[in-house]
Amino acid sequence: MNNLFTESFFIGESTLTIKKALIPAAGLGIHFLPATKSMPKEMLPIIDTPVIQYVVEEAIASGIEDIIIITGRGKRAIEDYFDDSPELEMHLAKKHNTQLLKLVQDVSSLVDIHYIRQKEPNGLGDAILRAENHIGDEPFAVLLGDDIIVNDKPCTAQLIENFKKYGKSTLAVEEVPYEKLSSYGIIKGKSLTDSLYVLEDIVEKPSPEDAPSNIGTIGRYVFTPEIFDCIKKAGIGVGNEIQLTDGIRILNRSQTIYACRFKGKRFDTGNRLGYVKSVIDFALENENLREDVLEYLRKILTPAKDFSEK
Ligand code: G1P
Repeated sequence: MNNLFTESFFIGESTLTIKKALIPAAGLGIHFLPATKSMPKEMLPIIDTPVIQYVVEEAIASGIEDIIIITGRGKRAIEDYFDDSPELEMHLAKKHNTQLLKLVQDVSSLVDIHYIRQKEPNGLGDAILRAENHIGDEPFAVLLGDDIIVNDKPCTAQLIENFKKYGKSTLAVEEVPYEKLSSYGIIKGKSLTDSLYVLEDIVEKPSPEDAPSNIGTIGRYVFTPEIFDCIKKAGIGVGNEIQLTDGIRILNRSQTIYACRFKGKRFDTGNRLGYVKSVIDFALENENLREDVLEYLRKILTPAKDFSEK
């Protein structure tokens, strides 16, 4: 299994530990239709590993022990993926294919995962609310299923570190190109250091002209449990959905919230171009594929000789 987190990063005991993480995976995957008509977008493979596995691995490498995946109709493949697969395992054992057998067994023994279904796709805020009872009165992390973030110290661990320092909700942010501002939650922040802001405001998917900055939230958050009540107060927002961003905005009225420029490379696999880039990057990082892929890319990028010219 490819483990992206090479530095063994351990967050020690403290009263401010975060042990639970939510992975919302109930979205319809509109950008990948028709493929996502019958398969969850979170199961799209980056070569041989589904996107959601990288997200689960990041949570585990950040010290998370209890993962809740919010699913919806048509998402059973996610549950099957992280479950045992007796027939396949028996087949591989019979064929003495120990390497693949271990690979398959490793996936199902990663961590305890619980599943909660969101009955209607009512937005990210609503998906998070589904897990309120399971989370209870403790801080928790949220990892969106579309983003893969590669860094020795996982992005979620970086947010947890900030939470341990200040005891406040923390959002991962990065610069967003002008034409993409309307796809993100955009913050207004007061710089504390090069990489940390105190949140002053946040707007979900603003038009570029109205955006309060060019700094957007990506799919990693750490929240104090008060976020649940704030999402409930938020009501329906942009796109006729219950938006997490609106809940964050309300939470910010009563609690300080930090926004952290995370360290690492982010792959947004939730859109087609981002997905293609991820596959290329991961192929070039894979020692068994790199040379062949490079040779192929060189071949297709070198203009063919035009023999008609004299
Ligand atoms: C969601 C959030 C948005 C955030 C984005 C990051 O939007 O609503 O605030 O900036 O994820 O990827 P979505 O991509 O689900 O439309």
